[in-house]
Amino acid sequence: MKRIFIFIFLISTVSTLFSQPKKVEAQMIEKKLFGKLADGREVYEYTLSNTNGVKAKIINYGATVVSLEVPDRNGKFSDVVLGYDNIEGYVADKSYFGAIIGRYGNRIGKGKFKLDGKEYQLSINNGENQLHGGTEGFNKKLWTVDATDESNLGPSITLSYVSKDGEEGYPGTVKLTVNYQLTNLNELKINYTGTTDKTTILNPTHHSYFNLTGDPNKTILDEELWIDADKFTPVDKGLITTGELADVKGTPMDFRKPIKVGARINDDYEQLKLGRGYDHNFVLNKHQELIPKVASVYDSSSGRFIEMWTDQPGVQFYTGNFLNGKVKGKNGIMYQQRTGLCLEAQHFPDSPNKPNFPSVVLKPGQVYRQSTIYKFSVK
Ligand code: BGC
Repeated sequence: MKRIFIFIFLISTVSTLFSQPKKVEAQMIEKKLFGKLADGREVYEYTLSNTNGVKAKIINYGATVVSLEVPDRNGKFSDVVLGYDNIEGYVADKSYFGAIIGRYGNRIGKGKFKLDGKEYQLSINNGENQLHGGTEGFNKKLWTVDATDESNLGPSITLSYVSKDGEEGYPGTVKLTVNYQLTNLNELKINYTGTTDKTTILNPTHHSYFNLTGDPNKTILDEELWIDADKFTPVDKGLITTGELADVKGTPMDFRKPIKVGARINDDYEQLKLGRGYDHNFVLNKHQELIPKVASVYDSSSGRFIEMWTDQPGVQFYTGNFLNGKVKGKNGIMYQQRTGLCLEAQHFPDSPNKPNFPSVVLKPGQVYRQSTIYKFSVK
């Protein structure tokens, strides 16, 4: 008996001596010049690193996530978002890579809406419609960095932008504040608050294109998607919502059980033809103050897994259908169609013109709030 104990003691001592202690990284925030705008204003990149070595790089132009390095199941880190190597790329960008979108995520039909009996005409930048806040939306603005913070939960950065009354045709001066926190649980948490001095509409979102393989030469078609939505909002040929809430049941829009993004994307289904793939708002089954889990994406080749939580009523699922191999992204890669997917937490597209959709109106004295979380892990 004694011998057995000595043997166990020796084995455990030897294995403790030789086992590699799990390396704990220091959490930190580093700031460096990213580039200069044509008028000389400086754009800075903030690298948030958590205790697991995960890194999120954010620039104050567009409050944009320019890189997000997360490990695969073997511990190999790769950048899982599309973007550009330099500021010139972001200034010329028409794909909204990684940016905060405002004032209004997605389309407003003919760029028109009525508020308190008055009609507003917004700038038009997508056929006859407005997309993602207009010609120079929040993604094309230099934001103010209000604070950086290293709490025990993980590093964070707070940015804000003040949009003047009349900008892109919208009423009221709006202040939007966005806090990105990279937690030590490998979550990218995005918290928004917004205020206005006149009644207006506000519906910001975040526009990262994820490619969990870590290799943007590959498409996202083999990644498995789950969305907790029984309904979606069908669109017309200009991709404006028709006002209908349609059942996903029995259609290629049904992601209530995880299924490969590419499994049905080329089906003979009108909505997919109109969007050239998925480019649709899903009506989330749960949305409330206690932020529910609403979607996930899994890449079996790398093991990478994203889970998404949001308190918003909808998520726009977009499969990068308009990427066409003509845009030169990071490391000189020409991004081809469907090499990134977006899950944009939002109110439904064209809500200001659809009385049956949840309201996007913000009044003086009210505070707009949104919380959205993308959590990265492996399976
Ligand atoms: C929209 C697409 C649009 C894309 C811009 C998405 O949020 O739904 O229709 O082309 O953003 O890159």
